[in-house]
Amino acid sequence: MESAALSRIGLAGLAVMGQNLALNIAEKGFPISVYNRTTSKVDETVARAADEGGLPLFGHHSPREFVLSLSRPRSIIILVKAGAPVDQTIATLSRFLEPGDAIIDGGNEWYENTERRISEASPQGLLYLGMGVSGGEEGARRGPSLMPGGSRQAFDNVADILSKVAAQVDDGPCVTYVGPGGAGNFVKMVHNGIEYGDMQLISEAYDVLKTVGGLSNQDLANIFDEWNRGELESFLIEITADIFKVKDEHGEGELVDKILDKTGMKGTGKWTVQQAAELSVAAPTIAASLDCRYLSGLKEEREAAAGVLEQAGISNEALRASVGAVDKKRLIDDVRQALYASKICSYAQGMNLLRAKSQEKGWNLNLGELARIWKGGCIIRARFLDRIKKAYERNGSLPNLIVDPEFAREMAQRQGAWRRVVGLAIGAGISTPGMCASLSYFDTYRRSRLPANLVQAQRDLFGAHTYERIDRPGSFHTEWTKLARQSEAGVGAHN
Ligand SMILES: *[C@@H]1O[C@H](CO)[C@@H](O)[C@H](O)[C@H]1NC(C)=O
Ligand SMILES: *[C@@H]1O[C@H](CO)[C@@H](O)[C@H](O)[C@H]1NC(C)=O
Repeated sequence: MESAALSRIGLAGLAVMGQNLALNIAEKGFPISVYNRTTSKVDETVARAADEGGLPLFGHHSPREFVLSLSRPRSIIILVKAGAPVDQTIATLSRFLEPGDAIIDGGNEWYENTERRISEASPQGLLYLGMGVSGGEEGARRGPSLMPGGSRQAFDNVADILSKVAAQVDDGPCVTYVGPGGAGNFVKMVHNGIEYGDMQLISEAYDVLKTVGGLSNQDLANIFDEWNRGELESFLIEITADIFKVKDEHGEGELVDKILDKTGMKGTGKWTVQQAAELSVAAPTIAASLDCRYLSGLKEEREAAAGVLEQAGISNEALRASVGAVDKKRLIDDVRQALYASKICSYAQGMNLLRAKSQEKGWNLNLGELARIWKGGCIIRARFLDRIKKAYERNGSLPNLIVDPEFAREMAQRQGAWRRVVGLAIGAGISTPGMCASLSYFDTYRRSRLPANLVQAQRDLFGAHTYERIDRPGSFHTEWTKLARQSEAGVGAHN
């Protein structure tokens, strides 16, 4: 296609996400050139732009023409599979790029790959951004949450475009310059880890309501719809309500009951947990959600285990019966509160992971601003992110969300319900690893004295690792075994 004037921006990689983001940009009035090695993808995108009333979108089959169709300094978004395809696409395009031009990788890339590419691009004078894009296919088309990190100049060059293209919420567009280096990718990774946690917690709420409360899919649809009008209002609660409503076209009942209970994953949740371990940050709720995905994958083993343990005398029915009848109304209200409190703890973990990485890398991440850009567009968008934003605005050095005075009050109000739900689930033999992890995190964090003294004593006994005392400074070592024998002997002597 011929275009006399030059395009403001380019996009390479026209799978559905790429196509949708390109159409979104064109619709906001920014002329865009698009490219894909598979030329049919280019033609498909051009046809879609024509269908949507002639959006200013121009297709190119040759990478050179594509690059030369852009006004300088050029900005090119690439949306291809993370890893090697990104390097290949950069290699194809960078031959035609000139100093000052920028590459913006919109994939779910490992942050260190972005940092490597930033240094590889710099000798040629090329700028580089690693930009997290959340919201799925629909978000890309209607307004995603964007998390760009890397070259500030590259961001400034397209800030007007990104601000228009991103989801819009009451306090602005869901985009901000996240920070230097791989900060944008890292923030997107933690976003996905939090998303794992949210999905796990919702699935546990479902399990308790269904298995202990005996609620039908219709009941669940109504409850989630109702929850979506209150403090839990969020994209994930909303879509969950919809899921319960869909009938199975191949048989009786609803589709959700026919879906194999095996969860897939693409790796960002695992990276989040690995990073938490690297940084010595506790992220038990996110880790529990990852573990649950692993265990869900062992479908055949679990079926066999169910048989073996039933033979051994562990019965689901007996466990369920052991907790007796429940007051449904109260259970529903308790589960709502347990879900909310568990969520706060999960977000606290994600935020603390971001802060730890920011300190290690000198990224200067603004946690309140990150909560703000997650308010719209992305998968974890939720009303309650506004409260997180405000908590960090009130106190930027808040060590943990749960000690913000407002969240602390909310936790206090909900802890009774939370403990009832977890206790009930444990009694009934329903695993709630996410809710339990959040509650344990809460109880561990809020207790000023933990049994860690005993662990220190053990370490000192077998490894002379030394310990500190609560009543005097310094580091101490004790000959535990010898003293224990002496005192045994002493005890003996008295007898
Ligand atoms: C083009 O399309 C194919 C197939 O959809 C995809 O695998 C490839 O990564 C795309 N991107 C580029 C830049 O060619
Ligand atoms: C921020 O929170 C910490 C921990 O609760 C507290 O010590 C500090 O005084 C707070 N700062 C402000 C400005 O409120």
